[in-house]
Amino acid sequence: MKGFTAAALAGAALFLTAKADVDPIVIKGSKFFYQTNGTQFYIRGIAYQQDYLGNGTTAGSSGGSNSYVDPLADSAACKRDIPYLQQLRTNTVRVYAIDPTKNHDACMTALADAGIYVIADLSAPGQSIIRDSPSWNDDLYGRYTSVVDAMANYTNTLGFFAGNEVSNNSTNTDASAFVKAAVRDMKAYIKQKNYRPLGVGYATNDDADIRENLANYFDCGQSSQSIDFWGYNIYSWCGDSSYTESGYDVRTKEFSTYNVPVFFAEYGCNTVQPRKFTEVQALYGDQMSPVWSGGIVYMYFQEANNYGLVSVDGNSVSTLDDFNYLSSQLASIDPTGVNSASYTPTNTAAAACPTVGSDWQASSNLPPTPNEQLCDCMFKALSCVPDNVSNDGVGDLFGVVCGLGQGTCAGITANGTEGVYGAYAMCNPSQQLGFALNNYYQQQLSAGSGASACDFSGSAKTQSPVNPTGTCSKLISQAGSAGTGTVTSQPSGTGSSGSGSGSGSGGSSKSSSAGMPSFSTPAHVGLLQAVSFLAVAFVSGAGMILL
Ligand SMILES: *[C@@H]1O[C@H](CO)[C@@H](O)[C@H](O)[C@H]1NC(C)=O
Ligand SMILES: *[C@@H]1O[C@H](CO)[C@@H](O)[C@H](O)[C@H]1NC(C)=O
Ligand SMILES: *[C@@H]1O[C@H](CO)[C@@H](O)[C@H](O)[C@H]1NC(C)=O
Ligand SMILES: *[C@@H]1O[C@H](CO)[C@@H](O)[C@H](O)[C@H]1NC(C)=O
Ligand SMILES: *[C@@H]1O[C@H](CO)[C@@H](O)[C@H](O)[C@H]1NC(C)=O
Ligand SMILES: *[C@@H]1O[C@H](CO)[C@@H](O)[C@H](O)[C@H]1NC(C)=O
Ligand SMILES: *[C@@H]1O[C@H](CO)[C@@H](O)[C@H](O)[C@H]1NC(C)=O
Repeated sequence: MKGFTAAALAGAALFLTAKADVDPIVIKGSKFFYQTNGTQFYIRGIAYQQDYLGNGTTAGSSGGSNSYVDPLADSAACKRDIPYLQQLRTNTVRVYAIDPTKNHDACMTALADAGIYVIADLSAPGQSIIRDSPSWNDDLYGRYTSVVDAMANYTNTLGFFAGNEVSNNSTNTDASAFVKAAVRDMKAYIKQKNYRPLGVGYATNDDADIRENLANYFDCGQSSQSIDFWGYNIYSWCGDSSYTESGYDVRTKEFSTYNVPVFFAEYGCNTVQPRKFTEVQALYGDQMSPVWSGGIVYMYFQEANNYGLVSVDGNSVSTLDDFNYLSSQLASIDPTGVNSASYTPTNTAAAACPTVGSDWQASSNLPPTPNEQLCDCMFKALSCVPDNVSNDGVGDLFGVVCGLGQGTCAGITANGTEGVYGAYAMCNPSQQLGFALNNYYQQQLSAGSGASACDFSGSAKTQSPVNPTGTCSKLISQAGSAGTGTVTSQPSGTGSSGSGSGSGSGGSSKSSSAGMPSFSTPAHVGLLQAVSFLAVAFVSGAGMILL
C-alpha cells in the first residue's frame, strides 16, 4: 500500500512536470546566472556520452564507421542514469554528439526535472572541422544548425561547443580560423531564428605552446565573432597534486581578466588510480571560484580509456571507486559567488588578437559564411560539371584542374593563415570541383580549344547553364567571375536539414539539387591537401587531358 502510494505520487509528479521547464542560465560578464533569481551558476558537470573516447573519436569510428550513440535519445538509459548523476550533485551534462533527427523530449524533460542542464557539442564523428585539412562548409553548417534547432527549445540547454580540441598543437592553429567562423555563424543563426540567448563556446586542449594564443584568438575582435564562453579540457592535476603543482594557479591568473565565463570542459586525470578528485576543492574554492564557473568531469561511462565513474551493463549501473570519491568531494563544496543584480563586470575588454607568426597561424580574417543558395546558383550556372567522379577521384581531379590555367581555383581556396578565402570556399567539394572544371573549360573556349576541354577523361560533362536571375544573380555577381569577391548577403535557408553528407558515409545530403553529381564528400581530404598530394599527378594528368 505504501509502495503503491509512493509510486502513484511519483507517477503524478512525473505527469505534472512532463513539460518541465527550468530557469534558463544566462551570461553576464564572465559568469553564469540563473535568469530569474540572479544566483550565480557554477557548473557541476559530468561528460555523458557512451563510447566517446575523448579524442574526437568514438569506439564505433575506430572501425571506420562514423556511428555514435546519441545519449539523449534513449529515455530508458537517461532515466537509469539520472539518479546516479543526482548522487553526484550534477547540474550539467556535456554531450559530444547528438543525432538531430531523433527525439530528445524524454531525456531533456527528465534532466530538467532533475535540475540538470545540457551543453552540447555541435559536431559529430565524421562531421567536424578537421585539424589538418580544415573547412567550414555547407555540410557542416547544416549539421551544426540542425543540432541548434534540435536543442534550442529546451529551457535546460545551456549552450553549445562549436569545436573540441580542433587546433591541438602548434602545427595546426590555422584550423582555428574555420572554427571561429563556425562560432560566428552559429551566433548569427541563433539570433536569426529568434531563439532565446544561447551561448556558443569552444573546448580547448591544454597545450602549453598554444593555449594562451587560442584563448585570446577566440575571444578577440568583434563580439559577433567571439566565443560566449571558454571551455578548458585540463588534466594537469593528477593524484594528490596541489594548486601550484598542477599549474591551476597560473591558469587562474591567465583567465582572471577574461571577459566571458570560463570553466573546465573536461577534467579528471587518471594516471593515478583511484581518482580522489582533490582538485574539486581547489576548483570550487576561494582562489578559483571568482574566476572559474566550475567544471565537467570526464566521464560518466567506464570505457576502454578508463575514465569512467560507473560501469553500465544493460539496465544495471555499478558505481566505481572514482564515483564515491567524486561524490564526497562534490558534497562538500558550496561556492556562492555573486548575485547578478549586484555584479558589475570589470573585465569588459576582449582579448587582443594574436599576431600571425611562427607560433600562431590563424588570421583574424575569417572564412565566409556557408551559403547553400549561392553554391546552388553557381553550380546551376556552370557549363561544365563533374560526371560520375568517385570519392577517390575527387582529390585527383582537383589536383589536375587547379594546376591548369590561371587562377582556376582562386574562388574555392581557403587559407586560414593568410586570411584569404574564395567566395566559394564554403561550398561542398562537388560544387567546388564544378567551379574549377568550368573555369578551365571557359578559358579553353576563349582560346578556341574548347571542344574537348570539358571531358577530363570522362570525369566531366557539359550541361546547359541556368542563367542566374534575381537573388542568384545578385549573389553570383557579388562573388565575381573569379569567385574572389565578397558576398555580403546572408544565407536565406533555414539550415535545418538533419545530417549533412560531410561524413562521406553516403548519408543523405540536403543539397540534392537537380543536376548535382552524386559523390559524397571526402571530409578528410581537403582541397589544398589534395592539391599538394597530387603535385606529381598533375604532370601526368595534364598530359592526359591535353592529348
Ligand atoms: C535560484 O534559483 C535556482 C533554480 O531555480 C535555485 O536552485 C537556487 O537555489 C535559487 N537561489 C536562491 C538564493 O534561492
Ligand atoms: C519551440 O517552442 C515554440 C513555443 O513553445 C513552438 O511554437 C515551436 O514549434 C517549438 N519549436 C521546435 C523546433 O520544437
Ligand atoms: C593532436 O591530434 C593528433 C591527431 O590528429 C594527435 O596525433 C596528437 O597527439 C594530438 N596532440 C595533442 C597534443 O593532443
Ligand atoms: C600535432 O598535430 C598533428 C596533427 O595535426 C600531428 O600529426 C602531430 O604529430 C602533432 N605533433 C605533436 C608534437 O603532438
Ligand atoms: C582515441 O583514443 C582511443 C582509446 O584511447 C585510441 O584507441 C584511438 O587510437 C585514439 N584516436 C586518435 C585519433 O587519437
Ligand atoms: C562510373 O564510373 C565507374 C568507375 O569509376 C564505372 O564503372 C561506371 O561504368 C561509370 N558509370 C557511368 C554511367 O559512366
Ligand atoms: C597558406 O599560406 C601560407 C603563406 O602563404 C602558406 O605557407 C601555407 O602553406 C598556406 N596554407 C595552406 C593550407 O595552403
